[in-house]
Amino acid sequence: VAVEPFDLVVFGGTGDLAHRKLFPSLFLRDRDGQLSEPSRIVGVSRSKLDRKQFRAEVKTALETYVSKTDLDKAAVSRFLDRLHFIMVDATGEAGWDDLAKLIADGLDKVRAFYLATSPDLFDDITHGLSKHNLLTPKTRVVLEKPLGRDLASAREINEAVADVLPESQIYRIDHYLGKETVQNLMALRFANVLFEPVWDSAHVDHVQITVAEKVGVEGRAGYYDKSGALRDMVQNHMLQLLCLVAMEPPSAMEADALRDEKLKVLRALKPIDDSNIRSLTVRGQYRSGAIDGKSAPAYRDELGGEESTIETFVALKAEVQTWRWAGVPFYLRTGKRLPSRVSEIVIQFREVPLSIFGAAGGFLAPNRLVIRLQPDEGVKLYLMIKDPGPGGLRFREVPLNLSFAETFKGPNPDAYERLLMDVIRGNQALFMRRDEVEAAWIWADPILESWSRLGRVPDPYTAGTWGPSAAVALIERDGRTWHEDP
Ligand code: BG6
Repeated sequence: VAVEPFDLVVFGGTGDLAHRKLFPSLFLRDRDGQLSEPSRIVGVSRSKLDRKQFRAEVKTALETYVSKTDLDKAAVSRFLDRLHFIMVDATGEAGWDDLAKLIADGLDKVRAFYLATSPDLFDDITHGLSKHNLLTPKTRVVLEKPLGRDLASAREINEAVADVLPESQIYRIDHYLGKETVQNLMALRFANVLFEPVWDSAHVDHVQITVAEKVGVEGRAGYYDKSGALRDMVQNHMLQLLCLVAMEPPSAMEADALRDEKLKVLRALKPIDDSNIRSLTVRGQYRSGAIDGKSAPAYRDELGGEESTIETFVALKAEVQTWRWAGVPFYLRTGKRLPSRVSEIVIQFREVPLSIFGAAGGFLAPNRLVIRLQPDEGVKLYLMIKDPGPGGLRFREVPLNLSFAETFKGPNPDAYERLLMDVIRGNQALFMRRDEVEAAWIWADPILESWSRLGRVPDPYTAGTWGPSAAVALIERDGRTWHEDP
């Protein structure tokens, strides 16, 4: 279904995110007929480009990041026709009037501003928009991560933006929420009757959330070395996943109802501080190694040989202090240069209360639900099944396997495709509210502070392995193991 006509202005329009994700996603929505005719896309940056050069850049980006089979010639040319470019100095005066002039005739349209820039500019840009009368009742401002580097800086950004816009017009992106399987987690829980009755500490032994990447810091060392895995992945993406697993059913699939429930989870996270940081967290940093038979440099070498105490891996044990989840550990781990790219959520159920099959039946492995976010999106439910044959009752663990690729033959849209269309539709459900972001920092800050106060430098791990051995010990101490697909 086509969305209503819009003008979308992308600050950071010549940057990496715009090229890699935003323009390809907008192109694919346009190709499928979702952008209505008078919609325009305006790239904005400090670079000196004219419209023709900008279009040529975007064309190259499409050719690089969109698969060939999707690059329909007519669709590409229609998309490029929508593009404009204005040079604006976000911190000064240059260009704002040109931008205002260009979109002046679009007052009735949705007017979205996507801030794909460093967060240091969010204050200047939003105030610039206000000062030059660019904000309309149909304005939506999208803020890319990172939303600050701690609670204080996140609050500063939120204050600055709230100065000129109400919360209902602010869209804080966490692209994990736009992933198909992440939304499927809500379908699984709330569109089925099977799971909810066993979704609690009486039936669930523990939860694991893994977001593993093979890539290193991919030329983003400048950003990454001021950030690290806790800020880059845990405070946002992983906590959002944890919230969707742990939250109570919202009263409706409506933005604030959903965000209220996520907020309650964030506020119920058990604090991690000097008293328990050693037993609950592991930091790691990769040394050189090999992935898929190819050698991979050390993090330090990617930085240009500098020493660094930033973590590229985190494992931790979280706890949600509510009646539903008391005593159920949530083990989280994420890292760069791990052996495979895999993101998944594992719900490990408890053992049956009693085996009636005696020793002959063998071990009854407790049920396990694995939600695979990427790649090979799908859901597996491991069940105990009788081994076929007349030889007596022997059991085997077998997965009920739902593969999205096999079941739904269609394409799997990128998270940004969904989220960009939600911005135009004015649907905030998959965007983070101010209080959520701040609650996540309230939990993350003491971990960062404690690591620094106690001088906890990251444990080394070899690129191509599952992180430092301490990450294995973190879960094995509790008599459990990280899930591995058999
Ligand atoms: C980003 C992080 O938010 O998410 C990156 O800044 C990370 O460091 C990326 O690589 C992972 O996203 P995805 O969609 O590839 O899992």
